[in-house]
Amino acid sequence: MTDLAIAASGLRKSYGDKTVLDGVDLAVPAGSIFALLGPNGAGKTTAVKILSTLIAPDPASGPIVVGGHDLATDPQAVRGAIGVTGQFSAVDGLITGEENMLLMADLHHLSKAEGRRVAAELLERFDLVEAAKKPASTYSGGMKRRLDIAMTLVGDPRIIFLDEPTTGLDPRSRHTMWQIIRRLVADGVTVFLTTQYLEEADELADRIAVLNDGKIAAEGTADELKRMIPGGHVRLRFTDPDAYRTAALALGEATADDDALALQIASDGSQRELRSILDWLDASGVQADELTVHTPDLDDVFFALTSSSAKPQEALR
Ligand SMILES: Nc1ncnc2c1ncn2[C@@H]1O[C@H](COP(=O)(O)OP(=O)(O)OP(=O)(O)O)[C@@H](O)[C@H]1O
Ligand SMILES: [Mg+2]
Repeated sequence: MTDLAIAASGLRKSYGDKTVLDGVDLAVPAGSIFALLGPNGAGKTTAVKILSTLIAPDPASGPIVVGGHDLATDPQAVRGAIGVTGQFSAVDGLITGEENMLLMADLHHLSKAEGRRVAAELLERFDLVEAAKKPASTYSGGMKRRLDIAMTLVGDPRIIFLDEPTTGLDPRSRHTMWQIIRRLVADGVTVFLTTQYLEEADELADRIAVLNDGKIAAEGTADELKRMIPGGHVRLRFTDPDAYRTAALALGEATADDDALALQIASDGSQRELRSILDWLDASGVQADELTVHTPDLDDVFFALTSSSAKPQEALR
């Protein structure tokens, strides 16, 4: 337990008769990036708020330890160890970026000189020196997000929570944010992030947990999660409706998409399986216009695990 930055078992939270978190276990090793993945309303923000002491879990919850401190008995020590960048910006638009930073320094009881030093250093690190004297309301989304994280780092937290740090950012800003997050971890910080972007979890996270229906539907490395889903297939697309119909009749086990004139055949994408599909096409004299190999990715995992109708086990079949 000692090298876990965050450990929670049986995390529960309900609002009235709506259960949001229904017994969630989390274990985040120190110095790693952990991604909590889930669709809208899954309870990601609720989990972040509980782990960062902003709201209380239900009394029936199990123990929660953050930064070595028991959240129930020593929330103040937890607060001292963490930084939180919420889903919605904490930036005050009416004052400048620099003033926002100095305000955070005050909140952390830094001396005036120390506050100015830390603010200047972070503004520099997050490429905000030029904008520092302008009202934050004039910043772009990416700049606001960078300022938000810079503000979180004023207190030099060892564990930081980032609730959807890249939602709404363009691809370049998103990559900048990924670099920032990687650099934090290189400095030994533990990052707990939530995201709806599978690509982001794949890029960044050492471990990923998929939250669905109040429970962790799956947990593991990106590769482990991908291996759980037999989503691999070969897709054959036709432009000639006759060729499509002939192929669909002959390939009974394929999934047919009549609108797209496409057939989908479950396959691991191996050379042997591809060869047998090509041999079969040749032998039956059918000409496919396009053949694509689809290896399962985190999108498949996400859809399989978070489809509202299917239980995870059913979706995995
Ligand atoms: N204070 C509250 N009172 C009542 N219900 C709430 C409250 N806060 C959250 N909820 C409900 O809890 C559920 C989970 O909300 P939460 O904000 O944790 O989801 P999320 O995974 O962060 O979603 P998103 O991806 O949209 O940010 C939602 O159904 C939400 O309506
Ligand atoms: Mg949220």
